Amino acid sequence: MYYIKKAASIIKNSDLVAFPTETVYGLGADAYSQEACLKIFEAKGRPANNPLIVHVASVQEAKDIVHFNDDAENLASLWPGPLTLVLPKKDNAILAECVTAGLNTVAIRIPADPIALNLIRESGCPIAAPSANKSGTLSSTSYEHVRKNFGDEIFILGSNGNATYGLESTIIDLTSPKPTILRFGFITPSVLEKVLGREVFIASKLSEIKAPGMLLKHYAPKTKIRLNADVLRNSEVGLNFGKSQLNAGGSMNLSDSKDMIEAAANLFDYLHNLDEFCQKNNINTIAVASIPNTGIGLAINDRLSRAAE
Ligand code: TXA
Ligand code: MG
Repeated sequence: MYYIKKAASIIKNSDLVAFPTETVYGLGADAYSQEACLKIFEAKGRPANNPLIVHVASVQEAKDIVHFNDDAENLASLWPGPLTLVLPKKDNAILAECVTAGLNTVAIRIPADPIALNLIRESGCPIAAPSANKSGTLSSTSYEHVRKNFGDEIFILGSNGNATYGLESTIIDLTSPKPTILRFGFITPSVLEKVLGREVFIASKLSEIKAPGMLLKHYAPKTKIRLNADVLRNSEVGLNFGKSQLNAGGSMNLSDSKDMIEAAANLFDYLHNLDEFCQKNNINTIAVASIPNTGIGLAINDRLSRAAE
């Protein structure tokens, strides 16, 4: 609790705090303070046209900021959790301008990690937070990853272990008559359809302009990535799944037992590890075994294909 109080006082003082969530670490600031939120863009090197997710601790706090509709009421049953809703911003919401990058919509979620929730409550304001990594690089799923990105520059709240899910939240746009997934995550399309009781759509490349961040370079390790590998080539290390045999010194396996939840939780951590290993040992490429493209696999493959671009 001492560290949470300290972190909250930093937030109230318009400074940045990195904090764990159940998805990935966030780099947070008081969502009401333009001065504070601009520091996020500066620290990350984030383009100003890429809006931030607002984190709140209760549905009522969300309703103070955005207009809820029936779909939002239904999906809020999955909160706290790894789901972000994009909804119309209320006219009287006093969010800092840069949080929404000029859009009239807000991406909002209630995180499940108790440290994140306590931080929001203790700070007494919604917390705007992107993933705690430099723009374009791998997301952070542990204290060490955040440290690697920001050094001593930023106060980091620790947790005991890695992020539970290890993938950023699913983002669903509820501002048009068709609920549309803007980013795959741990909450799968079929879960969303079940809770909504109707079809959900998936943003095509063209309409992705609605999630400005999705058009940017993402998750780029220093090392090249080759997807759907079945054998290792010269100067490669393997990222395996199940029984795949991409075996060279340093190779890793996302999940021996083909458990998608385990694979998702390991993804960014193993990519951080392999990237460092390759840089140290002058290896050119991380070869990744193919991963089934269903359920959570949709999110894993989405992150991998962006990393490989
Ligand atoms: O799990 C997560 O979502 C993590 C944790 C910290 O909560 N946060 C996260 O934030 O992944 P970030 O900034 O790395 O990704 C947020 C994405 C960006 O692609 C951004 O463009 C999009 O959400 N976004 C934010 N506001 C939006 C809006 N109003 N409409 C559409 N997309 C929006
Ligand atoms: Mg990010």
